[in-house]
Amino acid sequence: MLAIAILAAGKGTRMKSDLPKVLHHLAGKSLIDRVLSCTKGLNPSHRLIVVGHQAKVVEESLKHYQDLDFVLQQPQNGTGHAIQQLIPQLKGFNGELLVLNGDVPLLKEATLSSLLKFHKKTNASVTFLSSSLESPTGYGRVFTNESGQVKEIIEERDCTTEQRKNKLVNAGIYCFNWQQLSAVLNLLSSQNSQEEIYLTDTISLLEKALHYEVDDPLEVKGINDRNQLSECEQYIQEKLKSFWMAKGVSFIDPISCSVSEDSNFGIDVIIEPQTHLRGKCNIGNGCHLGPGSVITNSTLEENVLAIHSFINEATVGNNTSIGPFAHVRPDSNISKNSKIGNFVEIKKSFIGEGTKINHLSYVGDSTLGKKINIGAGTITANFDGKNKHKTLIDDYSKTGANSVLVAPIKIGSHVTIGAGSTISKDIPDKSLVVERSKTIIKTKSD
Ligand code: UD1
Ligand code: CA
Repeated sequence: MLAIAILAAGKGTRMKSDLPKVLHHLAGKSLIDRVLSCTKGLNPSHRLIVVGHQAKVVEESLKHYQDLDFVLQQPQNGTGHAIQQLIPQLKGFNGELLVLNGDVPLLKEATLSSLLKFHKKTNASVTFLSSSLESPTGYGRVFTNESGQVKEIIEERDCTTEQRKNKLVNAGIYCFNWQQLSAVLNLLSSQNSQEEIYLTDTISLLEKALHYEVDDPLEVKGINDRNQLSECEQYIQEKLKSFWMAKGVSFIDPISCSVSEDSNFGIDVIIEPQTHLRGKCNIGNGCHLGPGSVITNSTLEENVLAIHSFINEATVGNNTSIGPFAHVRPDSNISKNSKIGNFVEIKKSFIGEGTKINHLSYVGDSTLGKKINIGAGTITANFDGKNKHKTLIDDYSKTGANSVLVAPIKIGSHVTIGAGSTISKDIPDKSLVVERSKTIIKTKSD
């Protein structure tokens, strides 16, 4: 039997933030979400999250998980105090308790599996992940005896100058035999520089304590401040971009671009500088993104061009060109071979095949057919101050420059709207419509 506890009650003082530390993001995902995602395959009987500082906010952020039990730690009196709160929850539980720090986000599931395997094989009371770090500042140091068993973990602030030179550190990831741990949890004291109850003090109280050194020290990097957060972000980004480069994606200036882990790319995609992909994006073969584009939760089919544009929760068909300086907003579906040009905003609209909206337009709550030409400055007036209304434009129609279409409105097919018209009536197929006041020209007498 395996139970998993994630420590997420701390404030994260060193982040200097109103947001609880475990809710800070790395490549678009919170730290705690990352820790949780590496426990999925371990088949635990319980997943317990210890919350305290802004408990409700942390719980709310995890409501998409069905199987979590939240345990309140109030006040937050240290990592050992956090685990003491599990005693009522785990009454009668017989098995291993895997404890994860909520601020160690690069951990891999395979490492946890190896830790569990090693722990069982050696029949230890506790086994924890360790790492030898070039600069161990901030971590608890691990002290072993001649046979390699761990005698104690001493927090950096409680170390002597000599002890501080030890580079073997505690990663904050432990596998405990719960029966043995629960027997010593109440013996912990808070006689240390922080006057907190430390989980690390259980190590010297347990019969057989072992450490399991990880191959990659970055995997157990703890996040305590924003410098460490940005180091991890950089690490994730470098790995992601080099993965996609190996699969046929070109980054012209990788350092200036960011990619989310849930994005997928075809081959021959070119990503120009200052381009960012967020959330779940699917980018087809031959797309050319940027410079300067931000694409979020969107699907771009093949050979789409997006220059200096924002595309958010939208689908864009083959060979369509977006931008420069276009804003495609949620629930938009832009069909193939179309063009969304300079300073054009599209919201919650369907744009048919081969339709062009080249300059300075707003198209919202609209359905446009195929091969339509929307003239410069055309606006769908979709909002009457209270409600949003729909605009329908059928195939092969054209709107003149500065047309205003007052929704709800239906423009038929093969319609031509004269420049400068404000149209508030439905227009039948194959008609020419102009709504404009007469031009008055008078000779000036000076
Ligand atoms: C801890 C370890 C240290 C280890 C390091 C690895 C202790 C005493 N020290 O130090 O040996 O090298 O992690 O990253 O455990 N938390 C609670 N309740 C509390 C206090 C903390 O839930 O009362 C949670 C925090 O939200 C955080 C985690 O425990 O997710 C670790 O706490 P933190 O204060 O960051 O511990 P470190 O000083 O980094
Ligand atoms: Ca920490």
